[in-house]
Amino acid sequence: YNQKRCRAAAEETNVPRSMSTRAQLYERVFPQYRQPVEIGVFSLDSERAFFNDSRQLRYYVEPGNKPNFNLRDGYRDRFIKRDDGVKERLDHLLRWILANRAKLRSTHTPSSSCTLGVDFVTWRGHLTKLLTTPYETQEGWLLAVSKFRGTLYMSEVETEAARVNRENRTERHEEMMYWGYKFEQYICADEVNGVPDRGGVVNTNEAFCTVVQTRLADHKLLFSGEVDCRDKDPRAPPAPACYVELKTSAEICTPKQRSNFHRYKLLKWWAQSFLPGVPRIIAGFRDHDGVVVSVETFHTSKISQLIKTEYNCWKPTVCMNFCSDFLSFVKSVVKEDNPRLVYLFTWEPHREVTYTVHRDSQYTFLPDWFIKEMAS
Ligand code: A3P
Ligand code: MG
Ligand code: MG
Repeated sequence: YNQKRCRAAAEETNVPRSMSTRAQLYERVFPQYRQPVEIGVFSLDSERAFFNDSRQLRYYVEPGNKPNFNLRDGYRDRFIKRDDGVKERLDHLLRWILANRAKLRSTHTPSSSCTLGVDFVTWRGHLTKLLTTPYETQEGWLLAVSKFRGTLYMSEVETEAARVNRENRTERHEEMMYWGYKFEQYICADEVNGVPDRGGVVNTNEAFCTVVQTRLADHKLLFSGEVDCRDKDPRAPPAPACYVELKTSAEICTPKQRSNFHRYKLLKWWAQSFLPGVPRIIAGFRDHDGVVVSVETFHTSKISQLIKTEYNCWKPTVCMNFCSDFLSFVKSVVKEDNPRLVYLFTWEPHREVTYTVHRDSQYTFLPDWFIKEMAS
């Protein structure tokens, strides 16, 4: 199947130049995906400073199914927004790796080895984009990859189109982006026996992240993703099974809206939570004025059943096989071990995945402090 998919193999090297994203090509048995294991956590505080601990972890407080949450409250006067023009690339995750390097080495590789013992290091969000690619028709992506000490580091680059969209958001869109965070505030407590503080400030610099290790087919992965909150019951299963993802969505009033929710929203929700092994998604459905009208629980493992009633709907196996094949493609392309060399993988809807190579360019993303510290 590789030959069909990877057209135009370079004649001399036999390295494919491109890769198809057509969903039908990836309809085969579900690839092996090892249960993700949490190997660490970190927090980012209200000023976006890194801490190698769980200080930003919050606790899920059941809202009841008929809550009265006004998501617009506080947008003007109690909102501190992270500057999304600042590109952090993999930096926080690299800081976590440096802080936990001894542990990583001793558990995954012989003590003499100077490698991490994983094939890929990346953000969960980047993998989510890969999973949904066979079904995406709106937004393309750019992924920069560098090989350093045998590990492939993968960091997203903002596309021109995404930058234009970000710089031209409407006031309504800006406010609606706040609603998701405000919902979190209504549902989360800072302390295990605390209550949500709906009068507090929403600061989107703050984050709690899990770092997980897993394997997709023959790709050993280490990635990190933001976690919204956890089950407060001390008898809850260990992380990541105790984690809860929070979401908001427009209320569903018509069969067409239900179908769109299944086809587009649930695909993204499933991909995001399936990757790190987060079992539960709590969804707040809101009206046009930002008032939550109902709250529903989605079990990540049951989403694929739920969508089967849709004609020609997305399939988890296509998402996972595409991701696995893309990672194989990256492995076959990125051969030179050099943190200053970037292979830039590009995809636009209705096109194939292709790549370009850049030496000492604007795309270089592994910082000197990381390279130096890893060498010592
Ligand atoms: P919703 O999830 O309710 O849409 P997450 O759900 O991943 O924890 O993200 C929390 C909130 O951040 C989202 O709320 C949304 O408001 C905002 N957000 C997340 N990803 C975004 C993106 N790619 N673009 C704009 N806003 C985003
Ligand atoms: Mg989140
Ligand atoms: Mg969320």
